[in-house]
Amino acid sequence: MQDQVKLFTREELKARNTETDCILIIHNGVYNVTEFLEEHPGGLEVLMELAGKDASEAFEDVSHSSDARSLMKKYKIGELVEADRTASKASFATTWNNDQPQEPNNAWSAWLVPLLLGVAATFLYRFLFL
Ligand code: HEM
Repeated sequence: MQDQVKLFTREELKARNTETDCILIIHNGVYNVTEFLEEHPGGLEVLMELAGKDASEAFEDVSHSSDARSLMKKYKIGELVEADRTASKASFATTWNNDQPQEPNNAWSAWLVPLLLGVAATFLYRFLFL
């Protein structure tokens, strides 16, 4: 038999924000990082600031390594109840999706500014030094 995933509400997690009981919500997962506070390479303070709260955005902003991501599994104690979940996982996945179609005719405009600067510099040189 597989272990049942323990479910938490955001409300009940709010109070778990002390150095002796510190949880973080990251991508709808609930992590007890109490034992990890002193070991976190990014420091105890950043984790304490988000204790009891949703740290998904801050966690992604730091671009944690895949090592960090597999390490966090060790601290997972459960997940949020269905009603308290966000769609953050999907939106983070698309943040990195760079397949947006490029505007087809913006290539020439990319040259326009350097071109105009070049022309301006030429005229300036002529007037000043010739
Ligand atoms: C369970 C959750 C977390 C784990 C397991 C974790 C783990 C790690 C690890 C292993 C590193 C070293 C660099 C790397 O491998 O990416 C790191 C760096 C860092 N972490 Fe976390 N982290 C967690 C949550 C957070 C959160 C919520 C923040 C919020 C701001 C944060 C902020 C940072 C910062 C600022 C660094 C950079 C330190 C530096 O490069 O000087 N971490 N973390």
